[in-house]
Amino acid sequence: MKTHTLLMPLDMHLHLRDGLMLDTVAPLSAYTYSGAIVMPNLVPPVETLEDVKAYKQRIMAAVPNDFFEPYMTLFYKNYDKAFLKSVADHIIAIKLYPAGITTNSEGGVASFNIGEMRETLQTMSDLGIPLCVHGETDGFVMDREAEFMSIYELLATSFPKLKIIMEHITTKAAVEMLDKHENLYATITAHHLILTLDDVVGGMMKPHLFCKPIAKRPEDLDALLTVALEAHPKVMFGSDSAPHPKEKKESCGCAAGVFTAPISLQLLCEIFEQYDKLHNLQAFVSDNAQNIYGICAEFKEVTLEKRPFVVPETYGFVVPMYAGEIIAWAIESVD
Ligand code: DOR
Ligand code: ZN
Repeated sequence: MKTHTLLMPLDMHLHLRDGLMLDTVAPLSAYTYSGAIVMPNLVPPVETLEDVKAYKQRIMAAVPNDFFEPYMTLFYKNYDKAFLKSVADHIIAIKLYPAGITTNSEGGVASFNIGEMRETLQTMSDLGIPLCVHGETDGFVMDREAEFMSIYELLATSFPKLKIIMEHITTKAAVEMLDKHENLYATITAHHLILTLDDVVGGMMKPHLFCKPIAKRPEDLDALLTVALEAHPKVMFGSDSAPHPKEKKESCGCAAGVFTAPISLQLLCEIFEQYDKLHNLQAFVSDNAQNIYGICAEFKEVTLEKRPFVVPETYGFVVPMYAGEIIAWAIESVD
């Protein structure tokens, strides 16, 4: 049977939530990943040092049997220098959401006024704290990411030493930005390496494939595949696994988010093997991230095997992507 081993897989964009949801989903990521960057869009958001420390403790309590490093983030506000210095050792990055653009982002940035943001962003740059960005405007849904490119350019040129991560990119426009500015990087999800808008709404509407940013056009998918499969050094895997209770997805107002945490490594093996690029998966799923963030992940060795894996219908009260369907690769062992 064909196998493939990955060392220290990292998920550089993960939603773990809190409470019962945290207890349900955190062990699934901790099983196969060495660590993950944990998003701060709780209600209320993670925005103080006490919030960071307490949330990290709740995450560690939810994964008692596995080694798993939750790399913590703060929800972007115009924080002052003294605060940023006090919190720098406890976070890996700060996550910026435009106000109201997605789940629990109401307290995000309402306008990109560089003057008002300067103290925060310059201090982040000086302290080496990367800025992770949900890059969408409030324009027409298919254009939101492309429209945001001018804001990425403004940020990248105003703070040339600030590491800026374009999160969960979905467009050719974002891929093209990577080589334009030295300080721009990107995460890509597994589902955005598979889906186009057609898969979401082209036939029967698929609530479990609905997320923000929404999957785009075939040429966008091709551009994402090109940089992911070659493991472009400025690109890394971030699942954006975003669990919502089943009733919030299968509803007349479907919450945005695709839950992939327990199937993402299997999906990545399937995609990379399909294009004969399995040899580049290690860089995409771990090495690039360690280089970009300057981290050294704890040892974990995950072996996957090429055999049919039937995706469970639910994990607790959450429905995963491809529930009940078959993926070509399965987790064989974790050491
Ligand atoms: O689809 C999404 N779900 N996109 C986001 O940006 C947020 C996430 C969530 O928190 O549910
Ligand atoms: Zn996210």
